Amino acid sequence: MYFIANWKMYGNLKTLKSINKVIEFSKRYKNKKFKIVYCPPYTLLEAFSKKVKKTTIELGAQNCHFEISSGPFTGSISPMMLKSIGSKYVIIGHSENRSTGETDFQIKNKINSSMKSGLNIIFCIGETLQQRKKKLTNKILKNQILKGLPKIKKLNKILIAYEPVWSIGTGIIPKLSELEKNITFIKNLLKNNIKIKNSKVLYGGSVNPKNVKNLASIKNIDGFLVGGASQKAKNFIDIVKKTII
Ligand code: PGA
Repeated sequence: MYFIANWKMYGNLKTLKSINKVIEFSKRYKNKKFKIVYCPPYTLLEAFSKKVKKTTIELGAQNCHFEISSGPFTGSISPMMLKSIGSKYVIIGHSENRSTGETDFQIKNKINSSMKSGLNIIFCIGETLQQRKKKLTNKILKNQILKGLPKIKKLNKILIAYEPVWSIGTGIIPKLSELEKNITFIKNLLKNNIKIKNSKVLYGGSVNPKNVKNLASIKNIDGFLVGGASQKAKNFIDIVKKTII
């Protein structure tokens, strides 16, 4: 099971301390099978990297530029830069970035260069409420996957984060049956159209210590991408605990 903490545009050197408790927790339960990945804002990557060095916790970034190493792109960070600072993962295609103009084409290029630089990808997909109401969910998911994934081998280094846009930060989660059905749809699509056999699909959207036990009961779920509830160590630890213990 994967537990990805997406800190979004929150956090500073003070709040960074909260990770101490999570490090302690991960040491205590090191015989259990789970992976914690922290994705703080760029400004905290270096400090995080030092903290998690000799632990089982891994580091990820929340986005990157599609140019693999460097170039005249003011304000951007490349996959190689992320790698050099100790990032092992990068989130790509988050709906908060799609909604401000990120296209499937850009996403595909970002995934491509991130893979080339050796990063693991957390590829976000998900339908909006309107699309869901119009029963377009499968079509949207299929489109996002087929347009966003580059045609390269080794796509098995990709984790898919299924995040219905209407669940992010709203406190509303899909019915378990709906979620299970959508995850199955994604896994079948990856198997049949992209030839990824053992794909990993995580769920994201308002995951918290109260609803996680139920969500984790879904057979084909491989973990969670946690936004708001990952900012407090206690909540995040509870989420992991309730899933793995
Ligand atoms: P949330 O965010 O847990 O705050 O809903 C999830 C995400 O956007 O990755």
